[in-house]
Amino acid sequence: MAIRVAAPLRGLTGELRVPGDKSIAHRALLLGALAEGTTVVTGFPGGADVLSSLGAIRALGAVAERAGDTVRVQGRAGALGPAGTTAVDCGNSGTTMRLLSGLVAAGAGTTVLDGDASLRRRPMQRIAEPLGAMGARVETTDGHAPLTVRGAPLSAVEWRLPVASAQVKSAVLLAALRAQGTTRVVEPLASRDHTERLLPHFGVHVARAGSAVEVRGGQRLHAADVALPGDPSSAAFFVVAALLVPGSNLLIRDVGVNPTRTGFLGILHRMGAEVAVEGEVIEAGEPRAALHACAAALRGTAIGAGEVPAAIDELPVLCVAAALADGETTLTGAAELRVKESDRLAALEQLRLLGVEVRATPDGLVLRGTAGVPLRGARIRAGGDHRIAMAFAIAGLASPDGVEIEDPECAEVSFPGFFESLAACGARVERVT
Ligand code: S3P
Repeated sequence: MAIRVAAPLRGLTGELRVPGDKSIAHRALLLGALAEGTTVVTGFPGGADVLSSLGAIRALGAVAERAGDTVRVQGRAGALGPAGTTAVDCGNSGTTMRLLSGLVAAGAGTTVLDGDASLRRRPMQRIAEPLGAMGARVETTDGHAPLTVRGAPLSAVEWRLPVASAQVKSAVLLAALRAQGTTRVVEPLASRDHTERLLPHFGVHVARAGSAVEVRGGQRLHAADVALPGDPSSAAFFVVAALLVPGSNLLIRDVGVNPTRTGFLGILHRMGAEVAVEGEVIEAGEPRAALHACAAALRGTAIGAGEVPAAIDELPVLCVAAALADGETTLTGAAELRVKESDRLAALEQLRLLGVEVRATPDGLVLRGTAGVPLRGARIRAGGDHRIAMAFAIAGLASPDGVEIEDPECAEVSFPGFFESLAACGARVERVT
């Protein structure tokens, strides 16, 4: 079954909420499982990725109950993971696999982590190396999953990340919790800092100075309730939707606006969009606000390497915005997009089917926007990649004939109910064969 999304007859209007933040949800589950006491996570998004982390902590012995968007985790007070061998299916979730590797590296037993075909293609040596330097025993399959992590005593390390990656940074910081000494991680550019913000919420002292983060081993975690904000990566699809459809006016309530995640807002601003961030408050160390977006004429821009980490997951939908903008957009320093759930640079070349002049480069993309001229109808393949499916659905909003997404169900990985939410705002969404 495919889904066709086509240009609506009038603007998208109204208020909506998006599912809770996936990145923070993974971390809340993992820290909750390691902590002493019961952690209650609310606003739990329920997509396939976070369910992989939920399954993982249960496999490792934590009791976790889910009722709607609330999850209660009874922590193992540091004793996570049984003595024997535990197999964990991480599904499509790179965050589950990488963060969990760090979490179990100092455990009592052996953990075998595997995932779907997409996850098996993603680089895991970047995890094995720092954890190995700490004394962990991590075996990869030619640098990929399946991974076998045999628990071992760990010692602190100073690790300089060659590429900004919140997953690798977090894996090292989680391993550091049970290592001897103080571990220091230094990143080349700031990646999302949810782990650094959530650890103090669980009672762990984290020292941060510039691009370095330090955690002393042996600290205890105390259960803490975590109310998740809406996921800015999910909200980004609706922000771009409002910008592209004439007459639109959308208010997205309660969205996480951590600056390491909102790079897309700065880029859109430079392209001529005005997205208002309204009523910011901080909860569990994370800022949240409403995002208010209206239709706007956009212009092309240059997105450079320095902007990539804070906009990494929004780059596909930003390219869709650029496809309708006036002038050329260049993206550079984004080779990481080639090793996400799919090769996203290659996948985005399908914009050509919609009539957009586009060329992928080894580390980015060059495209010429149509300056608001509607896009051609086409059928595209998301290749099992949720963000590609949703980005092309948003492109469909600028196409009178519509864009058909061949495998739309993958959107459920991060955004259950995405197409229903889009239809509720007034988009033309229909099932096709
Ligand atoms: C994530 C980090 C990013 C991001 C991913 C989620 C996280 O990956 O693309 O969707 O929750 O830490 P990298 O660490 O590989 O950049």
